Amino acid sequence: MNKVAIFASGSGSNAENLVNFFREQELITTSIIICNKPDAYVLKRAENLNIKSLVLSKSELQSDKILTILKELDIDYIILAGYLLKIPEILVENYRDKIINIHPALLPKYGGKGMYGHFVHEAVVAAGECESGITIHLVDEKYDNGKILFQAKCNVDKTDTPENVASKIAKLEMTHFPEVVQKYILG
Ligand code: GRF
Repeated sequence: MNKVAIFASGSGSNAENLVNFFREQELITTSIIICNKPDAYVLKRAENLNIKSLVLSKSELQSDKILTILKELDIDYIILAGYLLKIPEILVENYRDKIINIHPALLPKYGGKGMYGHFVHEAVVAAGECESGITIHLVDEKYDNGKILFQAKCNVDKTDTPENVASKIAKLEMTHFPEVVQKYILG
């Protein structure tokens, strides 16, 4: 069975959704949740889900140590679910085409350094966009740059606030992310 590591920095609603979906389907195993923030809610979720978790510092996550950990656990794929640090080249090279990210906008728009979480939705509303969406893509050496695997759109109405847009995006993420990841991993 393919083994995945989920990387997350925040609340972890996507991480939890992935774990539950993979458990139901029994085709992919979530071996570990890796986090860079000791107080992130995703760690509580991991505990409740009975999934092993590990908090690593930014420097550990950007050194060879992370590769050693993943290799020891025999991890096949890495899934970024609200993970805010850059993936070091050593991981990209060793997991080429095997690192999947979700971005809460329609890349290539509203991507790149600093474009995450509420900043994305604020920028979308400020620009008067009439649509936004999610992008699920492979990770390469640059932020939000790898091959796009899937996009789904939602309307942005004139009266929408960044919070409204965030909740539309969250729905799309819950609906599509696990299925798209599973389909990609299983080929
Ligand atoms: C999601 O919107 C995801 O697209 C982005 O960060 C957010 C994470 O939310 N990369 P959560 O931690 O899964 O609740």
